[in-house]
Amino acid sequence: MTTTEKVINFAHRGASGGCPENTMAAFRHALELGATGIETDVQRTQDGHLVLIHDESLERTTGSPLDVRDITLQELNTLDAGGWFDEKFQGERVPLLDELLELAQSSDTVINLELKNSIYRYPGMEEEVVAAVRRFGLERRVILSSFNHESLALCAQLAPEIRTGALYIEIMVRPSEYAAQFGVTALHAHKHAVTPEAVAEALAIGVVYHPWTVNEPEEMKRLLEAGVSGIITDYPDRLSHILASRSS
Ligand code: G3P
Ligand code: MG
Repeated sequence: MTTTEKVINFAHRGASGGCPENTMAAFRHALELGATGIETDVQRTQDGHLVLIHDESLERTTGSPLDVRDITLQELNTLDAGGWFDEKFQGERVPLLDELLELAQSSDTVINLELKNSIYRYPGMEEEVVAAVRRFGLERRVILSSFNHESLALCAQLAPEIRTGALYIEIMVRPSEYAAQFGVTALHAHKHAVTPEAVAEALAIGVVYHPWTVNEPEEMKRLLEAGVSGIITDYPDRLSHILASRSS
């Protein structure tokens, strides 16, 4: 991409540099900081509710010894997902996917839903996520991503109108051709796997790069120079600042 105006500034797990990750507080604060996109992680409770949380285990962010897939929504709602980060966030809950989609309706934010379905597959999750996105009319503003590329191929097949991003960490041979093969429109690569050559090769066939997790301003600048179309960061305020200075 030749201009930086349209580079999407994705807040990773919300504005997780200053707020507890994947909470409504983190999502709202991301918008206040100038994020134009929000990245979050989707899993499913025992009783079938789609919720936003990174780890399969509830331990780190709520103190519960259970896994997300082994708890009901009612039990989950009793857990505090904010106090581990700072006591001022006590009372934040693990949000439902619907809560974020509702917030998205009142802004023009891009929403990157990462399906966390590599360890536990959550059968049927793809259909459920697509149904939720359609229910909120957000097909044009959502990007579905996953490290589970079988799942992503299924998403692309189920909902060709919704963008998809293949997550990967290690350096691959011709990743854009690989992605395009199964209808995936973006590469969500670890920042160390992104070079100007890889970005140019991808753009030539209409595939864009959205690297993660990029927190250092120098690294943000390097990736913008390389031509990426979005950056996933814990600090959207840092990226906003750089994007503003480049467009002025
Ligand atoms: O979607 C980008 C990034 O979130 C992938 O890694 O572990 O932070 O979900 P992780
Ligand atoms: Mg993620």
